[in-house]
Amino acid sequence: MAATELEQVVNLCKRRGFVYPSAEIYGGSRSSYDYGPLGSLMLRNVREAWIRTMVQQRDDVVLIDAAILAPPQVFEASGHLANFSDPLVDCTKCKQRFREDHLTDPNVCPNCAAVGSFTEARAFNLMFKTFAGPIEGAGAEVYLRPETAQGMFVNFVNVLQTSRKKPPFGIAQVGKSFRNEITPGNFIFRTREFEQMEMEFFVPPAESAHWYQYWCDARMRWYTDLGIPAEMLMLRPHEADELSHYSTGTSDIEFKYPWGWGELEGIAQRTDFDLQRHAEHSGQKLDYFDQANNERYVPYVIEPAAGVTRAMAAFLLAAYDEDIVNDEPRTVLRLHPRLSPYKVAVLPLSKKDTLTPLARELYATLADRYMVDYDETQAIGKRYRRQDEIGTPLCVTVDFDSLEDDAVTIRDRDSTAQVRVPIASLLSEVAGRLGF
Ligand code: GAP
Repeated sequence: MAATELEQVVNLCKRRGFVYPSAEIYGGSRSSYDYGPLGSLMLRNVREAWIRTMVQQRDDVVLIDAAILAPPQVFEASGHLANFSDPLVDCTKCKQRFREDHLTDPNVCPNCAAVGSFTEARAFNLMFKTFAGPIEGAGAEVYLRPETAQGMFVNFVNVLQTSRKKPPFGIAQVGKSFRNEITPGNFIFRTREFEQMEMEFFVPPAESAHWYQYWCDARMRWYTDLGIPAEMLMLRPHEADELSHYSTGTSDIEFKYPWGWGELEGIAQRTDFDLQRHAEHSGQKLDYFDQANNERYVPYVIEPAAGVTRAMAAFLLAAYDEDIVNDEPRTVLRLHPRLSPYKVAVLPLSKKDTLTPLARELYATLADRYMVDYDETQAIGKRYRRQDEIGTPLCVTVDFDSLEDDAVTIRDRDSTAQVRVPIASLLSEVAGRLGF
């Protein structure tokens, strides 16, 4: 089962400290969110799962971390200043603003139901502009990046010269991006401040079609390997009128959100568009000399572009489940162990001092390797439920017998089955069950 209503996950996230509306004490915001103690751990896990697959397990992709603020020249060259806009319409009756391409009926206002009340659509550029230094004005403008991708293009030669890679190879990056979205919404699905994980894969032009297919398949697999059921995902090629200004072909990995199918990640064929444009605008050579074939060429680019925050939403929605355990309803997040905020919870059966030293010792041993929760409040059943609800795959219970038999109980989140395990083999038992 997965969440059927967005509210199920929104409420759980608020209740358990995954996600809060940003600056909530001042009324909160629909356009950005703060990630709490559990949400920030989970975001880190999503990032690390991506870096593990996209960088660590490959010898043809390197990681960078480029600046968020960039001068206008970058976005003039990339085409974002001219083209990165959405069609904005105003309702003349209720004064609300909408993205024209998101309206179900382009004649009817979804807020006040007025008919024919929209202004002509105008192009609204989505980039946030600010000023660097103490003087505002021309020459001091900088932009908050709307995608991490340009950091890879402007550093193409730096990386080529310092990393000893040659096409086909990729440059990956994880970091914040900013878009002045006209209609942010659906919780963390569309926000104005969000996090992306993108990789630009530079290939000989003749290999572009092969690598496009390769990355479409690989990226679908990443989500299913991390527990999203295949039937909640589909690959949808863009229609010609949906393509970004830099793309000759894009497929979206779509996820079945409670409100319908929607984008989770895009895989685009950016050709040599960005490198050519930056070469023209900067006057620098952004190409590759292939010594084996004695030819110089500008590589083509295949770009898998995902959202950290949007992926977290999808993982939470897919993992959400409600079942009955011991005749009581239970909410459980069936998250992949790599994604769950805590991997293990150590729970002394009672708060009595006699159990504390052993429980603390086991906590320290496990915490050396994993993110571990320690909880000695409330009845044990309630503590299990709390861990189920935040997706902790394993609970380790220390009871009074543990002091005699040097063993503890391991409880599995999904099956709720409990087994007794010698303390001496606890670490290997946990590693075997988590898979790492
Ligand atoms: N460099 C290409 C690029 O940025 P995109 O399809 O606009 O392509 C890639 O964005 C991914 O970034 C999206 O599939 C989504 O996961 C995430 N994303 C984009 N805009 C977002 C927003 N406003 N809020 C949250 N995530 C967003």
